Amino acid sequence: MLLPEDQPITDDTIVIIVGTNRRNSLSSQIARYYQSLLAELNVSSVILDLSGLPADFITTALYENTGKNPEFNRYKDVVERAKKLVFVVPEYNNSYPGVLKAFIDGMSYPSGLANKKVALVGLSASHQGGALALSHLNDIFSYLNTNTLALRVKLAHIRNFWKDNTLHHDLYNQLLRQQAQQLITF
Ligand SMILES: Cc1cc2nc3c(=O)[nH]c(=O)nc-3n(C[C@H](O)[C@H](O)[C@H](O)COP(=O)(O)O)c2cc1C
Repeated sequence: MLLPEDQPITDDTIVIIVGTNRRNSLSSQIARYYQSLLAELNVSSVILDLSGLPADFITTALYENTGKNPEFNRYKDVVERAKKLVFVVPEYNNSYPGVLKAFIDGMSYPSGLANKKVALVGLSASHQGGALALSHLNDIFSYLNTNTLALRVKLAHIRNFWKDNTLHHDLYNQLLRQQAQQLITF
């Protein structure tokens, strides 16, 4: 699911962002898992996967080209309409993926993400679980007046625990459910 076309988006819909444009990323699988956790809590959500962004958005949708790429505008509209979002963020070179920064830079400034409520989930092949990636992202959101939930979930060594579309790690599951519940009442 790259961008919802057939799903109704209401004011209560939580938007889950897949924070990489890598095709078939593990982040996209975790995003779907998060969506199922929200569904168990009777909350509807949609997934925006950055892999569906127009490949040329850096040259056709940013700066002097703001508003000129209709496909990018669809993404931007969904994000800017949302009140609550979840960012599922893989650790790339000890930070978050560059494409996510470019995507954020493509939002309206200064108010595109202001006053929204955001939950952060990090994942990594190694031991950090995207801890620093989420800290970097949190700094950006703080600058943009975006409110991040204090509980950031870090899924380290994700490949050891993600099997058959399920997360086989009791603490990770507990933390994700806790975060989802907190986001609903945030
Ligand atoms: C460009 C790139 C850089 C990466 N850098 C790191 C890293 O610094 N630390 C780490 O633990 N894993 C790193 N990884 C692995 C991803 O964090 C790991 O595969 C993650 O669990 C899921 O990434 P995905 O959503 O792209 O599948 C990197 C992967 C890519 C593609």
